[in-house]
Amino acid sequence: MSPSPLAASPEVLALLKDLHTKSLTQEATVDWQSLPQQCTTDFDSIMLDKFIALDQDKCELVYHILRSINAKTVVEAGTSFGVSTIYLALAVAENAKRVSATTKPRVIATEKEESKAKLARAHWATAGKEIEDVIDLRVGDLRETLTSDLGTVDFLLLDIWTPLALPALKLVQPHLRPGAVVIADNTIMAADRYQELFAYVDAEGSGFRRVTMPYKGGMDMIVYQ
Ligand SMILES: C[S@@+](CC[C@H](N)C(=O)[O-])C[C@H]1O[C@@H](n2cnc3c(N)ncnc32)[C@H](O)[C@@H]1O
Repeated sequence: MSPSPLAASPEVLALLKDLHTKSLTQEATVDWQSLPQQCTTDFDSIMLDKFIALDQDKCELVYHILRSINAKTVVEAGTSFGVSTIYLALAVAENAKRVSATTKPRVIATEKEESKAKLARAHWATAGKEIEDVIDLRVGDLRETLTSDLGTVDFLLLDIWTPLALPALKLVQPHLRPGAVVIADNTIMAADRYQELFAYVDAEGSGFRRVTMPYKGGMDMIVYQ
């Protein structure tokens, strides 16, 4: 087996493995075909106890991208129980150790459900202070929580109900630095629900370029300018 791409302690790697296993086990119990529409009360109540964490291989790629672009300020739209957030935090904390680093590392995470945010905080506490210290968790609707104090953003993770992907991108866009990366999940599986986002990103002069990667369900990497 090849070594983990993450610079992380054996304890954190074990925690991540455990959280991904729990998430996948839970996902296998969900009847995905019969779910109500996203962004409805019925859908949200079914999802209230669900991890639906970003898959491990996708998280590892995200971590690598953050290390590569030297990201210090990251926004996560959709935090749930905080699994992907741990990868984001590990990467920005590691980037901050570079000799040239001046900006304080920060992961601006946002989650609508207080009960999910509470569990996310517990997972970060288990992961350790290095993780906890760089996360700025904003509990509430991202259409409110992402309207202020973002600074210059290097990376945006769109792991959110699809109707919220474009609103989240538009809120963060004025703060994206040239070369910033946006990742959107499940772009092949949910291609029909991403049409508005694709049209916006693909429009001439949008400042964005994207590529769809053949991960499970598809994942888009969008580069700004
Ligand atoms: C796919 S999950 C995120 C999974 C997480 N990134 C991970 O890998 O562990 C999407 C989350 O977005 C949250 N969410 C839904 N609508 C939201 C909104 N308007 N503002 C903030 N979060 C929202 C949901 O409650 C859900 O927990």
